[in-house]
Amino acid sequence: MKLLHIDSSALGANSATRELSAAIVARWQAQVPGLSTEYRDLDSDPVPHLTGQALAGNDAAAAVESERVLQQFLDADVVVLGAPMYNFSIPSTLKAWIDRIAVAGRTFRYTAQGPEGLAKGKRVIVASARGGLHEGAPSDFQEPYLRFLLGFLGITSVEFIRAEGIAMSPQHRSDAMAAAHAAIGEPLAKAA
Ligand SMILES: Cc1cc2nc3c(=O)[nH]c(=O)nc-3n(C[C@H](O)[C@H](O)[C@H](O)COP(=O)(O)O)c2cc1C
Repeated sequence: MKLLHIDSSALGANSATRELSAAIVARWQAQVPGLSTEYRDLDSDPVPHLTGQALAGNDAAAAVESERVLQQFLDADVVVLGAPMYNFSIPSTLKAWIDRIAVAGRTFRYTAQGPEGLAKGKRVIVASARGGLHEGAPSDFQEPYLRFLLGFLGITSVEFIRAEGIAMSPQHRSDAMAAAHAAIGEPLAKAA
């Protein structure tokens, strides 16, 4: 079984999502024998933004890197995504990665009946953190976006481990982090 671990927080050692994504991955590594793990830190090792040159296939180096990122995603059975809320959405580094994995003909296609996701059978666990409270609010363009995008790619098993209100007070932060750690599920149990 292959696990792909992605972090995107720009807050380094103070990052809530890095702490949570690491805890999720550690749980999987402890409980799933033979699990192979690949890691990409999109803050220190960002995927370049998609450009017209890259889309047109005029940049050979970009094409190789793009294919590597896509194949790494396609190969993964489980993807653990560290996805903070930045400006009500996700970090641009994570969006740049998504632009490389959402590829027509590879992870989705359009048919006469509408779009079809081609990245079926994966499980995605998102480590989410937000400074304020956004669950179910119109300000949330982070979790609904990720859920929709992953569903569009054909992924039906998507789980959020969420720490909200991180910036409201130190007590809010420690309570939210404790609750998020407690919510980390058993690796081989089915997502809700
Ligand atoms: C650049 C930036 C933008 C942010 N934008 C929002 C926001 O729109 N709404 C919010 O509730 N919190 C916002 N926050 C707070 C983060 O969501 C919060 O610090 C969370 O812990 C980020 O996850 P991380 O610690 O893993 O980076 C922002 C933080 C940063 C650094």
